[in-house]
Amino acid sequence: MTVNTALEKSGYIMRKRSHHEAAAPLRMLYKPGGMLEKHLEEKKGAHGVIYVHIPYCSRTCSFCNLRRSAGLAPEGYVDMLIKEIKQYAGLQYIKDSTYGAVYFGGGTPTVLKADDLRRLLRALKQDLPVDEDAEITIETSVSNLTEEKIQVFGEEGVNRFSVGVQTFSDAGRSILGRKGSYSFVSSKIGKLLKQGFDNVGIDLIYNYPGQTEEELIKDIETIKNLDISGFSFYSLIIHKGSRLGEQLTQGDLANDMEKYYFNSIYDAFIGTGYSLLELTKIVKGQRDSYRYIKIRYMNGDTLPIGAGAGGKLGNLHFMNPIDWAGYSKKVKDGLIAVRAMETDTFYECIYRLIGSIQFGFPEFTAHGFSEYSHVLAGLNKNWLNRGLIEPDPKGYRLTKEGVYWGNNMASDLAQALVDSLLNRHLAK
Ligand SMILES: C[S@@+](CC[C@H](N)C(=O)[O-])C[C@H]1O[C@@H](n2cnc3c(N)ncnc32)[C@H](O)[C@@H]1O
Ligand code: SF4
Repeated sequence: MTVNTALEKSGYIMRKRSHHEAAAPLRMLYKPGGMLEKHLEEKKGAHGVIYVHIPYCSRTCSFCNLRRSAGLAPEGYVDMLIKEIKQYAGLQYIKDSTYGAVYFGGGTPTVLKADDLRRLLRALKQDLPVDEDAEITIETSVSNLTEEKIQVFGEEGVNRFSVGVQTFSDAGRSILGRKGSYSFVSSKIGKLLKQGFDNVGIDLIYNYPGQTEEELIKDIETIKNLDISGFSFYSLIIHKGSRLGEQLTQGDLANDMEKYYFNSIYDAFIGTGYSLLELTKIVKGQRDSYRYIKIRYMNGDTLPIGAGAGGKLGNLHFMNPIDWAGYSKKVKDGLIAVRAMETDTFYECIYRLIGSIQFGFPEFTAHGFSEYSHVLAGLNKNWLNRGLIEPDPKGYRLTKEGVYWGNNMASDLAQALVDSLLNRHLAK
């Protein structure tokens, strides 16, 4: 059994665990972009996705510091979302766009009442140009997923579930502050599949304090036995501000099994009817194509709805205030008052390349920016030497090592290209 301490062939020591870290160098490329509505008048519509943010949870988990507000959604939250949807629906740019996926994230979207969820789903489909066969995803905890809400989802076209299980282990669930036992969680998911929803995936956290190898094996076996469509797997990040971060001692953190557990999960699934869809996502057969994330990495639009939702229309990026007062003021003031940041086609080129790493098949061609080809050629050679990539009929693919360090690689690629661009400007 090895733990992740020594400097390995990969050359990396500190693992970047989230795609937000991978894309961080791109922030250098943002420029003040003026007023959203005015700028959209000059642009043609696009293909994209809709992201609806519900930053509320019925209880908070010990490890989580995601963008969410404390407590349940304020009275009138869904009315405000519908008002925001109608504002966008009035723009010619949006009328000329098409949306291939809708994603409800949080927080926990299923904290909303069944009737409110129905009203919201209807408003989205009636007022916005959502494709007939759009992928519609709901993030949910097991405890918030009532029969009444499941019925609404069936009737209103929800066809993809992302269930925040984290672990099936009772001991682990207690450490992570999750409600419900192994039998409650597994039977609820089994039932959802039996009710005819084929695309049900879960979120799994590994390397939590005190996790034993037996507990990880049980999580792996339960995933296989339940026959879900796939799962995201995240190594626990212990945030300083979280309850868990406050409780833990150095002793609790000493037994770091991150790489060993990552390898165990990878080996248990990859090549056994499951494949890697993203650095942190494994799917069974063809059951989950996760259209939402694919459209985003192809530089599709993301129309953001709700407090704390961030997105982009064309090359204009913007984010709603997360607090209720700020968000309701934003909706009352209307789209005319929304200020955006702007990016150029170089940003899009890098974002696409980051996407190719996220999906496991790194590309090394900077379309339209041949003056930077040497940077990508250098990375290609370096990563081959370090065992992070290998040749593949499609070009190159990440090795298992590359999947583990994928966010570090994406960040290095983004940083190298941004640095070259900035040096070029300085040299002029
Ligand atoms: C936006 S959350 C939404 C899931 C849903 N609210 C739930 O937990 O039931 C998405 C996922 O991020 C992961 N996550 C959140 N905080 C994390 C942390 N500190 N370390 C690793 N993964 C984390 C969890 O797996 C979580 O399910
Ligand atoms: S993990 Fe999910 S349910 Fe738990 S606090 Fe975070 S967003 Fe809420």
